[in-house]
Amino acid sequence: METNYSLGIIGLGVMGRSLAQNFLRNGYPPLGYVRSANIPPDLGVAATNSLAELVQSLAPPRTLLLMIPAGDPVEAAIASLKPLLQEGDLIIDGGNSYFADTERRVKELEQAGLHFMGMGVSGGQSGALWGPSLMPGGSSAAWPRLQSMFEAIAAKAEDGAPCVAWMGPGGAGHYVKTVHNGIEYADMQLIAEVYDLLRRGAGFSNPELSAIFAAWNEGPLRSYLVEITAKILARLDEQTGEYLVDLIQDEASQKGTGKWTSQNSFDLGVAIPTINAAVESRLLSALKEERGIAAQVLGGAQSYAGDKQALVAAAGQALYASKITAYAQGFSLLKMASQEYGWDLDLAQVALVWRAGCIIRAALLSDITHAYRRDPALSNLLLDSAFKEAVLSRQAAWRSVVQIAAGIGIPMLAASASLAYFDAYRSARLPANLIQAQRDYFGAHTYQRVDQPGTFHTQWE
Ligand code: 6PG
Repeated sequence: METNYSLGIIGLGVMGRSLAQNFLRNGYPPLGYVRSANIPPDLGVAATNSLAELVQSLAPPRTLLLMIPAGDPVEAAIASLKPLLQEGDLIIDGGNSYFADTERRVKELEQAGLHFMGMGVSGGQSGALWGPSLMPGGSSAAWPRLQSMFEAIAAKAEDGAPCVAWMGPGGAGHYVKTVHNGIEYADMQLIAEVYDLLRRGAGFSNPELSAIFAAWNEGPLRSYLVEITAKILARLDEQTGEYLVDLIQDEASQKGTGKWTSQNSFDLGVAIPTINAAVESRLLSALKEERGIAAQVLGGAQSYAGDKQALVAAAGQALYASKITAYAQGFSLLKMASQEYGWDLDLAQVALVWRAGCIIRAALLSDITHAYRRDPALSNLLLDSAFKEAVLSRQAAWRSVVQIAAGIGIPMLAASASLAYFDAYRSARLPANLIQAQRDYFGAHTYQRVDQPGTFHTQWE
């Protein structure tokens, strides 16, 4: 049996096949596994439909990469592989798995003498093929023998550094990927809101908007998502010749990673309102029929009657300030998760790994790395001197954009949430004193005073 394969890849769907070709191109030939009796002839990599043959074809200690849907399929693949593997072998789950599942699987497999890693893989099909951003975590013992292979296939940042780094033990890799996706949801929603304000509110055409986003992509907003937005807005439908974006149904789908980010933020007690607003905006978008009825009953948005060029300039500023705030929330969540789960995440390193290959790659990420290098204990990105300056200098434009949108009835759940987060975070005193009084009034929940120590209750009636 041949043993010159570097790894086995289970699941040769779009992502698995692209990654397999990437490994092959970089001198790490993989052997793929497909379940079907007929192996498609155009895979571009060697493949088998026998798990036993797959395992026997690899020299121990073996590396098996799962590129299959999260949940039951991963559970089933592990169960099938386990009896075929021997001590020191490694299973890597490269899907978008729930981090707590990964945490459990690392422990279970370590008890069986096997290594397990959960690895976030970002960048879609072209990332997988030409260089993804990789976020591995789990059994660290196996990492040294894998590092150079993953560095070879990973995206390279502008300074040539590979976008892969060891995130931490247990479910750290999948957790970092989940928060990446939460930020991805927020970033996409912020862009969509600005598009809505300028298109529906101010009446800009698709080609005009494409040019606006392309221009923004030359400045501080430079990012993959802004770049593809400019391209999407310029794309014509082949069948009708109309702008394709206008023909796409306005219902956003989701596979759950944004929701997991929100759910976990509640467990950890970290406020991430922009990410939550992005998840909720997708939920509202899904009410397509109901929204149509409500538009009839309640009326729609008005048109913007002010200076359109000034609005474009302000919208770019608002988008950047909102985006910084969304990243600040995501990194605060990572910081808390690292403490809570004992992962010792290096936040500067996380930002480094996201600089290229992944969906949220953006010029901003280098600034985030610098911020955490300056102060590894930084409690919030908004307190970093560079980000403070970036946000404060855009504050007036940010407020005006949210005001204009509210004034004409264009929903900006995420941009408003970013601004409100900024205002709440910088409020030395919030109205929580009144909340405490209400809690004590109706439920004798007690409160603390500002002028003396201790716990107090008042007989309010
Ligand atoms: C990535 C993406 C990817 C994710 C899609 C779809 O980093 O390459 O995050 O992993 O699956 O973006 O996510 P939703 O279907 O939830 O939008």
